[in-house]
Amino acid sequence: MTTVQDSGGPAHNDLLTLSRLVQDDLPCVAHIHMLAFPRSALTRLGKEAVRRYYEWQLLGPHDSVALGAVADGELVGFCFGGVFRGALSGFVRKNRLFLAWRILIHPWLVTNPLIRDRLKLGTRVLRWTARGPVPRATSRAASEQHRSFGILAIAVHPASQGLGIGKMLMQEAERIALQRGFTSMHLTVATDNLQAIGFYERQGWRKHTTTGEWTGQMRKTLSL
Ligand SMILES: CC(C)(COP(=O)(O)OP(=O)(O)OC[C@H]1O[C@@H](n2cnc3c(N)ncnc32)[C@H](O)[C@@H]1OP(=O)(O)O)[C@@H](O)C(=O)NCCC(=O)NCCS
Repeated sequence: MTTVQDSGGPAHNDLLTLSRLVQDDLPCVAHIHMLAFPRSALTRLGKEAVRRYYEWQLLGPHDSVALGAVADGELVGFCFGGVFRGALSGFVRKNRLFLAWRILIHPWLVTNPLIRDRLKLGTRVLRWTARGPVPRATSRAASEQHRSFGILAIAVHPASQGLGIGKMLMQEAERIALQRGFTSMHLTVATDNLQAIGFYERQGWRKHTTTGEWTGQMRKTLSL
């Protein structure tokens, strides 16, 4: 891990340091992900699948930042943000044999509705990319989102939640977004994740909808 110091003062307090994550941190990231998102489809695929997912987010062709919060030398939280190019599609494409093997040796995974949904999505992604490059989104909403800094994932170890760590990670992500010239941020949250929604609203995020029915999109306008 490298300590965050690029500008705006040191990002740490007495107990906690924020760092840029490196590949060696990914097993700890996967561990926290599995504890913080116990019911997610990714968690059910196992720790190596989770580690590979974040490896793609760290090393793939993205314009992103991976932040870790460290207390007493231990990773206690993380945040991946920025502009991601194929966060899911690239992961599925790069790891399709591994993912197929995971499902072959754990066939019961297919009975899980979350995994089934993700499998359908993964199959669509593979069919799509087999036909050529993924088509670029052309809608106005998509191009607006393109100029916005996305929060792909944020999580704090359950034993360390409620101590201000999530807030510190988010504030650092916002500082970096501003520094890189973004004026807005976006994320998607599960509509039943009331804990996270409460946390985001407390940080000034607002629910965003274009159709009237809210599907988990949230946005925040950044100002200096
Ligand atoms: C959501 C999460 C990242 C928040 O991190 P955290 O370290 O527990 O939150 P913090 O202690 O930094 O809280 C920051 C502020 O949000 C407030 N807050 C936290 N949870 C809240 C809630 N459920 N409702 C209202 N406010 C809340 C805190 O009171 C605090 O307010 P303050 O600024 O007045 O002090 C963390 O709980 C988590 O990892 N959850 C599981 C994974 C997850 O759902 N991630 C988001 C997926 S989209």
